[in-house]
Amino acid sequence: MGRIPVVYYSKSGNTRRMAELVAEGANQPPHEIRLRELADATAEDVLWADGMAIGSPTWMGGVAWPMKRWWDETIVKAWGKLDGKIGCAFSSEGGMSGGAELTCLNLVTLMLNYGMLTFGVTDYVGKRTTLHYGPTCVREPSGDEDCAACRLLGQRLAQWVSVLVDGDHSRHPRQGERP
Ligand SMILES: Cc1cc2nc3c(=O)[nH]c(=O)nc-3n(C[C@H](O)[C@H](O)[C@H](O)COP(=O)(O)O)c2cc1C
Repeated sequence: MGRIPVVYYSKSGNTRRMAELVAEGANQPPHEIRLRELADATAEDVLWADGMAIGSPTWMGGVAWPMKRWWDETIVKAWGKLDGKIGCAFSSEGGMSGGAELTCLNLVTLMLNYGMLTFGVTDYVGKRTTLHYGPTCVREPSGDEDCAACRLLGQRLAQWVSVLVDGDHSRHPRQGERP
């Protein structure tokens, strides 16, 4: 059984809606999911995790400062203890090309600093939408493709936790395609 917190900061609710969809996608038995607003997310949550998804709105082309402070101050006591945990990112932005992919990369950089393993997703969820660096939405997720991208991130995280933590290779996303 894998343990998966979905942690998000959201000032006006858009990243929260993404987080709910990510958590929905990750919610696959036998995994246990915790959906945590940043203010309630503690070092205990990240120590508990096997894999985690972290979401932030894009502020000035990068991660919102409350989220950066959380890594710098709130969970710093877990630094050196998160090596090998699996992480992924998502972000809401105010307008198309407003920097949300950079925010995902900011979050991935923080995960790498903590020794975590991260992943991209090659799949398209529609003609115009993929999540190579994590799903990004202009404001709240709207339409099937946005929602599918968020759910797929959670689903893929749950699959990697099954494969890499639980050793269940039948859950590999490319199972059946491997030589
Ligand atoms: C201080 C601040 C800076 C922002 N900077 C950007 C930005 O650089 N690019 C962008 O596309 N949107 C920017 N936005 C807009 C937010 O990313 C956008 O409204 C987002 O959907 C908010 O998510 P939330 O509802 O989860 O707080 C900014 C918003 C704030 C408050």
